[in-house]
Amino acid sequence: VNQGNGVKGLSEMGLKALPKQYIQPLEERFSEKKIVPHESIPIIDMSKWDDPEVAKSICDAAEMWGFFQVVNHRVPLQVLDRVKAATHRFFGLSAAEKNKYSKELSPSNNVRFGTSFNTQAEKALEWKDYLSLFYVSDDEASALWPPACKDEVLEYTKSSEVLIKQLLKVLMKGLKVEGTDEAKEALLMGSVRTNLNYYPICPNPELTVGVGRHSDVSTLTILLQDDIGGLYVRGNDGESWIHVPPISGSLVINIGDALQIMSNGKYRSVEHCVIANGSSNRISVPIFINPRPQDTIGPFPEVLASGEKPVYKQVLYKDYVKHFFRKAHDGKKTVDFAK
Ligand code: SIN
Ligand code: FE2
Repeated sequence: VNQGNGVKGLSEMGLKALPKQYIQPLEERFSEKKIVPHESIPIIDMSKWDDPEVAKSICDAAEMWGFFQVVNHRVPLQVLDRVKAATHRFFGLSAAEKNKYSKELSPSNNVRFGTSFNTQAEKALEWKDYLSLFYVSDDEASALWPPACKDEVLEYTKSSEVLIKQLLKVLMKGLKVEGTDEAKEALLMGSVRTNLNYYPICPNPELTVGVGRHSDVSTLTILLQDDIGGLYVRGNDGESWIHVPPISGSLVINIGDALQIMSNGKYRSVEHCVIANGSSNRISVPIFINPRPQDTIGPFPEVLASGEKPVYKQVLYKDYVKHFFRKAHDGKKTVDFAK
């Protein structure tokens, strides 16, 4: 079928039934998940930016949940509105326009329009289209990113930098890693990727997923979601699932595998997934803050100084990421690569 316009194209054909390729095995479907309805990940008010209480809530959330939401985070709300509008604008382009950024046609590996996650490796596809933008320089972004969204994505990515630095500063203090010198900063936030995700209305949402279970490979992920909902996070019992309710103006923050590894497991990179929706189109815009591909990551010496045994070995970040992208989403298995 019409792969050129992704699942959005399929959705708009008005299919009565979900194409077979998207039918997930029973155990991956929402009906099989144990949902805890009254549980919630922490919501942290950052208005008192430097308050030790705020710092403590951030570190506690990173340890217990691996996920939290922030409000009063100092990323201007108009910037968030503009990047959401730009996301709709990009996916609203014709198939031909979007396919200028497909694997085959894109002017750069740093700009990629695609569908599902890894269509080569997946037994069942995921009901999602995406545009992935790896930041190299303003000049490259300006020359190669899609005009429909480039200014807004750049503005959002840059405006979030203050928040990211503050979160990392607080999290490092929580690990007793003092002083963020340039080398450490490069290791924590040496590269940035911003994705635009589009989850169109699905004919049989109960049979498929928007995104399968995975943990992020980032240091930190900053996620902007719209008001539709559908993101679920593994509860800290390791079994149940908790909904991440949309809160207007908030950002969802989660710890990625790189920070789990660097903190020797103190901060948790938690499994999450997105369900498909039968009545609304949904968008989300995650910013992945990553080490540089050429960096080697492993538990920080400061964390091991107390005599704590390293849980993870040193790995080349590029190899770690390659391992993640080579396979279908498979929950928390990627991190075994660093064991
Ligand atoms: C993801 O974790 O891959 C997407 C999250 C979302 O769309 O909410
Ligand atoms: Fe994710």
